[in-house]
Amino acid sequence: MNIIITGAGRGIGFELVKKLSSNFDNKIYAVSRNLDRIEKLGASNVMHKSIDFSDETLDEKLGMLIEEIEEVDVIINNAGFLVNQPFEKLSKEDLLRSYEVNVFGPFRLIQAALPKLKKGSHVVNISSMGGFQGSAKFPGLSAYSSSKAAIANLTELLAEELKEKEIAVNCLALGAVQTEMLEEAFPGYQAPTSPAEMAKFIADFAINGSKYFNGKILPVSLSTP
Ligand SMILES: NC(=O)c1ccc[n+]([C@@H]2O[C@H](COP(=O)([O-])OP(=O)(O)OC[C@H]3O[C@@H](n4cnc5c(N)ncnc54)[C@H](OP(=O)(O)O)[C@@H]3O)[C@@H](O)[C@H]2O)c1
Repeated sequence: MNIIITGAGRGIGFELVKKLSSNFDNKIYAVSRNLDRIEKLGASNVMHKSIDFSDETLDEKLGMLIEEIEEVDVIINNAGFLVNQPFEKLSKEDLLRSYEVNVFGPFRLIQAALPKLKKGSHVVNISSMGGFQGSAKFPGLSAYSSSKAAIANLTELLAEELKEKEIAVNCLALGAVQTEMLEEAFPGYQAPTSPAEMAKFIADFAINGSKYFNGKILPVSLSTP
């Protein structure tokens, strides 16, 4: 399978690269700004792509990425940016960056990949319990969680719009996972789930989930801090 994983440089995304590249039938297109850990992994079926979702040349870079893939089987929109800032202190830049990475990036990647997404392919959008309707909410996360709600809603819309092409689109709303992002947002908090554990679940869902789900926003959460 040809699999695009964004946010592949660290955290859950890096563990996804490790997990999915362990099957040599898979070819992984690992998208992230920081490629150090991926390069150290040295897996021959992992192609590194340095793309910044806030960069002006985003569309050009996405075009180049898609051009070199014959057919896309799976996209995991995992890249995420979290700013923890009281509502009144959020700058325009905080807001823009949150939406660029968490919403516009996945939007433009799916658009760019559309001609190469074949019948039976699966787009998995990684959201957060913070963007899940009715879940516990936390101060300081208005930019982050509202952007995560947007990608969840986009999932439902795309599933409807792409169902005739038989492309499935689902969203996983994650609870707390012990990554650098969580540590930065909630210093000292101990999550019950490791990045490797979460990646194992997401990898399996990305490969098999489209047989059972389409247009779903699924909470994957033991706890939310
Ligand atoms: N950890 C949790 O508790 C938790 C809970 C709910 C949802 N999630 C979601 O799960 C996903 C993975 O999170 P994580 O905890 O593994 O976070 P992380 O360790 O902070 O990793 C985030 C990834 O996003 C990439 N990214 C950030 N800004 C980018 C930009 N401008 N352009 C391109 N890539 C960018 C980073 O790339 P670089 O390597 O280039 O820095 C990094 O690889 C995110 O979507 C997050 O919102 C996490």
